[in-house]
Amino acid sequence: MEYNILSFIYLLASVTFIIGLKMLSHPTTARKGNAVAAAGMTLAIFGTIFLYNEEGASLGNYGWIFAGLAIGAVVGTLAARRVKMTAMPEMVSLFNGMGGACAALISIVEFDHLMHLPGLSGLLLVLMSASALQGLLLIILLGLIIGSVSFAGSMVAWGKLNGSLRDFSFRGQQAFNIALLLLILGLATYLIVAMPANALPLFYVIFALSLLYGLFFVFPIGGADMPVVISLLNSFTGVAAACGGFLYDNKVMLTGGILVGAAGTLLTILMCKAMNRSLTNVLIGAFGGNTATAAAGQSQGSYKEISLSDAAVVMSYANKVMIVPGYGLAVAQAQHACHELEKLLTAKGVEVGYAIHPVAGRMPGHMNVLLAEADVSYEKLLEMEQANEEFPTTDVVLILGANDVVNPAAKTDPGSPIYGMPILDVELAKHVIVNKRSMKPGYAGIENDLFFRPKTSMLFGDAKKVLQDLITEVKNS
Ligand code: TAP
Repeated sequence: MEYNILSFIYLLASVTFIIGLKMLSHPTTARKGNAVAAAGMTLAIFGTIFLYNEEGASLGNYGWIFAGLAIGAVVGTLAARRVKMTAMPEMVSLFNGMGGACAALISIVEFDHLMHLPGLSGLLLVLMSASALQGLLLIILLGLIIGSVSFAGSMVAWGKLNGSLRDFSFRGQQAFNIALLLLILGLATYLIVAMPANALPLFYVIFALSLLYGLFFVFPIGGADMPVVISLLNSFTGVAAACGGFLYDNKVMLTGGILVGAAGTLLTILMCKAMNRSLTNVLIGAFGGNTATAAAGQSQGSYKEISLSDAAVVMSYANKVMIVPGYGLAVAQAQHACHELEKLLTAKGVEVGYAIHPVAGRMPGHMNVLLAEADVSYEKLLEMEQANEEFPTTDVVLILGANDVVNPAAKTDPGSPIYGMPILDVELAKHVIVNKRSMKPGYAGIENDLFFRPKTSMLFGDAKKVLQDLITEVKNS
């Protein structure tokens, strides 16, 4: 009876995951989608705690379980409440690493169970056919290897994003990584096929090598490619969790793991597409990684500045203004001021839209989330392709703290580290006003020729301050 109720709960939870994921695909339903999936997960956790029993015995250990739940809930809630939007990828990376670690720990515990059953080669083999045992070992080892790689890799990604770790590579690192991976796979295959009597030391060697591989896998990847890597590691964690689902014959863990694995893989592919690069190129190339050499680009000549009042006049008398938000807007927390300017211009009869580049900011959907927070209408957000169609009929493009996503070098300079990345063609518009604080480069660490072009005028200052002053000027113009 309890088993039937639990199966039903798992089915329900799996359905909430799918519905939640679907709802996450649109900004208007994303929050609710998150809540729906979280409710399903809560149901699955408590269902497992109270209804699961093995051979008539319930789970027990309630003290440990609830202490762990309480600590996790407090840490998770505080971290999620305190995290700044710009530091979100770091947190995702850290949490993802924890998921990988859990999957690896499950494998360690289950391997230990196997070893402590009355002899791997004795009674166990009588109860279980050799091939079934090998199947079990395969799942345990997959969970161990993938989970450990995901944990160690995510920790490196976390360190890189918060600035405590630098890119690190050495000559022949790719060959070293491939050799390490082959060694891990070779040892795992040996363990499964030969099933040596004392397999524990070998198991721990595989565990240690997998952790090492996770570190060396992410160490050389360039900083700007971290979101792609995090998404890839995310899919690894999903697969590792699905292995846990197999082990425990737990349908909800299996479904959840597969969904995370698939979603992570799709996001990885979409991000690579948005940057017009292959996954291999992301994993082996050094885009945005070597800022020292990249920033060493020569100065492109002179640029011109525009005053606040002139900028206000140009925009107030325009027919169409397109705002290009970027990382700087997020840092300055200027989204509310930005929305206010948009409303003011609209009231003056100006058509205003937002051109959203898929990798603007520091995480997928960063600009959408930021502008949604300021209640900007979704209808006003144009995706890159749509925006590029609109630019030829746009009078003024106002770039707020964006740089790489409007850098023409991506189209014209084959030597540029961002060459091939699709960009917003802001130069098709009549005027381009760029707001940033200085002439410093953006994430990829390279000069931007756009700032020196005849159509472009620079409006220096912190985005929030500049927008507030612009609002005053537009009101007076
Ligand atoms: P960036 O190229 O990073 O440029 C942001 C610009 O904002 C900087 O040049 C900076 O110039 C300016 N800025 C900083 N603080 C500011 C402030 N308070 N007020 C005004 N301006 C400010 O940004 P982007 O164009 O959004 O491009 C995103 C980059 O990040 C791409 O290279 C992308 O590949 C990478 N990336 C993307 C993601 C995702 S998935 N979205 C994740 C990680 C990395 P000043 O210092 O002169 O002010």
